[in-house]
Amino acid sequence: MNPINVAIIGTGWCGGIRAETCAASPLVNDLHIAEIRPDRLEEVAKATNPKSATEDYRSLLDIKDIEAVMISATPESTHYPMARDALLAGKHVFLEKPIAVAPAEADELIALATRGNLKFTIGYSQRFNPKFAYVRKSLREGTIGKPVSALVSRHITRNLGAKISGRTKLSPAAMESTHDIDFLLWCLEPAKPVRVYSQVNYGAMRERTGAQVPDAQWITVTLDTGLSFVVGGGWSLPPGYPNYSTTWIEMVGTEGAVFVDNSHRDVVLNTMKGGMMLPMSSMPGEPVDHTYAGPMRAETLHFVEAVAFDRPVLVTPEQARMVMEVYTAADLSAERNEPVTLPLKGSPKLAAAG
Ligand SMILES: NC(=O)c1ccc[n+]([C@@H]2O[C@H](COP(=O)([O-])OP(=O)(O)OC[C@H]3O[C@@H](n4cnc5c(N)ncnc54)[C@H](O)[C@@H]3O)[C@@H](O)[C@H]2O)c1
Repeated sequence: MNPINVAIIGTGWCGGIRAETCAASPLVNDLHIAEIRPDRLEEVAKATNPKSATEDYRSLLDIKDIEAVMISATPESTHYPMARDALLAGKHVFLEKPIAVAPAEADELIALATRGNLKFTIGYSQRFNPKFAYVRKSLREGTIGKPVSALVSRHITRNLGAKISGRTKLSPAAMESTHDIDFLLWCLEPAKPVRVYSQVNYGAMRERTGAQVPDAQWITVTLDTGLSFVVGGGWSLPPGYPNYSTTWIEMVGTEGAVFVDNSHRDVVLNTMKGGMMLPMSSMPGEPVDHTYAGPMRAETLHFVEAVAFDRPVLVTPEQARMVMEVYTAADLSAERNEPVTLPLKGSPKLAAAG
């Protein structure tokens, strides 16, 4: 096995974590970074000592010996063109969710990866949270029997909600609950979603942004096995610890149940300056000296290992495409105020996409 050369495009919050993880991995030889904010480019370059740092991501795609590209840019409308360019350049691609803005774009990316025999995976980081993996394992190994009820409820802060909804018009379903839809479909595969019903609730976010941004969205998904599950996502919690996230999972089966409290209330920092805070509570997590609290480091290394050792990726783009179908249907359902049947007809652009 030879170490691989990796490029990161967009070194903001997530891309910064990915760059630092790659820089510290013996499996990564050369690291290259691309970022259009010069101050952030300089900051991440200082922390990761890359072979090259550029404001033009296309110049990295011309470098022949870069095998893998991780795309962490925003706004989300950059995902499709960047992934397309990278796949056409023959690079293995890790792409943050969402896979694209329109289903037809996702289909094209999947076809390009297949044709080029390239690894292509999407950043459903929560699969790399051991608590989430434990729920799936309990179900898959039969410990709790056959599933009869499944629920994930997640809330994040309104700072983060404003950051996300400010750069695109994607909904809580598309941008937040997407992780939990992916997680439950992954737990319950090979069952396929056949019907989606969703409602949105308004409050603080509409006041804050002046736009039709819901505070919360609830989604019921019915599978072809007859089982239905429920996913709720909200992004209007008070500021608190920046990027705080809280999640509750219930998976009930015929022989048992697993309940997961991922509310991050187990470590409390209390200071004169900042008052009480809940550190290590964001969705990607954060480095803590020599270790890492959260799923994003393991997820990043998984992709590097998949390329370096020619192993399969955990999240397939076909799975991400199915998740897209569900959150697109959820937005349509909330808009029409009625259930929506899958598969969706035609190739609708996401209802609320900007
Ligand atoms: N898996 C998770 O837990 C998780 C958490 C947060 C965000 N995300 C996803 O990750 C992506 C990144 O989110 P973020 O919070 O890190 O965003 P961010 O805004 O902090 O960072 C994105 C960066 O991309 C840069 N950029 C934009 N256009 C570029 C270009 N043409 N070339 C190079 N750089 C460019 C921006 O300047 C910015 O620094 C989003 O699409 C989001 O959906 C995933």
